[in-house]
Amino acid sequence: MRHLMSPLDFTTKELDRLFDLANDIERNPGKYAHACDGRILATCFYEPSTRTRLSFESAMTRLGGCIIGFSDAASSSASKGESVSDTIRIISGYADICAMRHPKEGAPMVAAEKSEIPVINAGDGGHQHPTQTLTDLLTIRSMKGKLSGFTIGLCGDLKFGRTVHSLINALVRYSDIRFVFISPEELRVPDYITEMLKAKDIPYEEVIRLEHVMPRLDLLYMTRVQKERFFNEEDYVRLKDFYILNSDKMALAKPDMLVLHPLPRVNEISVEVDSDPRAAYFKQAKYGVYVRMALILTLLEIQVP
Ligand code: NCD
Repeated sequence: MRHLMSPLDFTTKELDRLFDLANDIERNPGKYAHACDGRILATCFYEPSTRTRLSFESAMTRLGGCIIGFSDAASSSASKGESVSDTIRIISGYADICAMRHPKEGAPMVAAEKSEIPVINAGDGGHQHPTQTLTDLLTIRSMKGKLSGFTIGLCGDLKFGRTVHSLINALVRYSDIRFVFISPEELRVPDYITEMLKAKDIPYEEVIRLEHVMPRLDLLYMTRVQKERFFNEEDYVRLKDFYILNSDKMALAKPDMLVLHPLPRVNEISVEVDSDPRAAYFKQAKYGVYVRMALILTLLEIQVP
């Protein structure tokens, strides 16, 4: 039995197979409509989510399966003091696969150790968000035709943004990738990440101004300032509107640069950018369903002829 805790749990070969499957699902949805008949997905969300939870639920429903679960800790027995280990033991008897989001880093790993069904980490604190990374990689591969040979700018909250940490971890396995980290001083990417890049001899630079690097980027990954992970409101208010991507900044970018964002956006991308053909973030959210369908099939070892 396999779980998904980090994007590195799959080799790049396995990821290619997963993305091929996701692309086939996109092209031939009818072929997969009953692949999970009689199977149950539990979504155990101890932290709010729209896209991740609903895209998992949409994915399982589109495969013909059913959904059970809770969407916040207050409506689960966690509010009575039940541990994650106990909850997953119970869920193992109720469902065939579980997607878990938790504000505590490592909580889905604790659950996986006690689980009798595959557990998917749907985001743990500021740590990892592997299914968002699978979504990001599938979007890049589908829209650019490759996962190597580009300069990617990551902009915004690089300190607390788990999607950023997961994506960097995953991209370092592909060749000829250059990172440009764009953040205010206070929200710089954690040292363990820059240490890892140095050790692997992967080029990166850290800058503060987005407009200075815009013309060089092949991909721009925008992120929200993670309000819920700040210790004080004052810092959040000071930093929340540090970056606003607008048409003037887009005018500096390459004609085929893609703008990605895990969403939700707050103010960091002005709505005028939505109609720019380079804005890929709504398409990206759709890829999130196809890749989760492919992931559920893969972890349940269901093959569709
Ligand atoms: C992200 C998350 O939850 O980390 N959202 C998502 O899953 N699409 C990003 C965010 O909340 O800013």
